[in-house]
Amino acid sequence: MNKDIEKILVTEEELAEITKKLGEQITRDYAEKKLLIVGVLKGSIYFLTDLSRHIDLPCQIDFIQASSYGSSTVSSGVIKITKDIAEDLTGFDVLLVEDILDTGKTLKHIHDMLIKRNPESIAVITLLDKPSRREADIHADYVGVDVPNAFVVGYGLDYDQFYRNLPYIGILKEEVYKK
Ligand code: IMP
Ligand code: MG
Repeated sequence: MNKDIEKILVTEEELAEITKKLGEQITRDYAEKKLLIVGVLKGSIYFLTDLSRHIDLPCQIDFIQASSYGSSTVSSGVIKITKDIAEDLTGFDVLLVEDILDTGKTLKHIHDMLIKRNPESIAVITLLDKPSRREADIHADYVGVDVPNAFVVGYGLDYDQFYRNLPYIGILKEEVYKK
């Protein structure tokens, strides 16, 4: 285990089970639909690539990136889109893929922006949910697993752009970010 990790919260084996189960559920729910999978960069990439391999349907994949000003562990809610997707989403059933729903401010901003582009539907899937932290009026239609209010990294999630490549989700030791 990485020396900066306090405890592993979700193991590689559990991640494989979660992505398979969710992919199969999406496959059932989106049959006959025009699925556009939109990953929120960068944290969702590991989840999206594993999840999408279990989605047995024709689909398109794109990415959107938002930056939120603030410290490295809390998002400020002031959000700027730094990479966008198509302006016209007419006919598409959009599935927004997030690594973690924390306050929900980032996803709420993206959701409200995309809803104006006339999609057929928009749903949200998040690997991790911290429901106790929610401030924005947004919920996930699909959740991998609820996590406690701790700062977690790995499998795409970062602290200061590091730790994304850990194959599991772990709680970061406080001493790493509280200096
Ligand atoms: P929100 O706008 O507060 O919901 O923040 C969402 C974004 O903050 C996520 O997409 C993550 O990039 C980041 N974030 C929130 N909590 C954590 C965490 O525990 N570890 C790593 N990144 C996090
Ligand atoms: Mg992030």
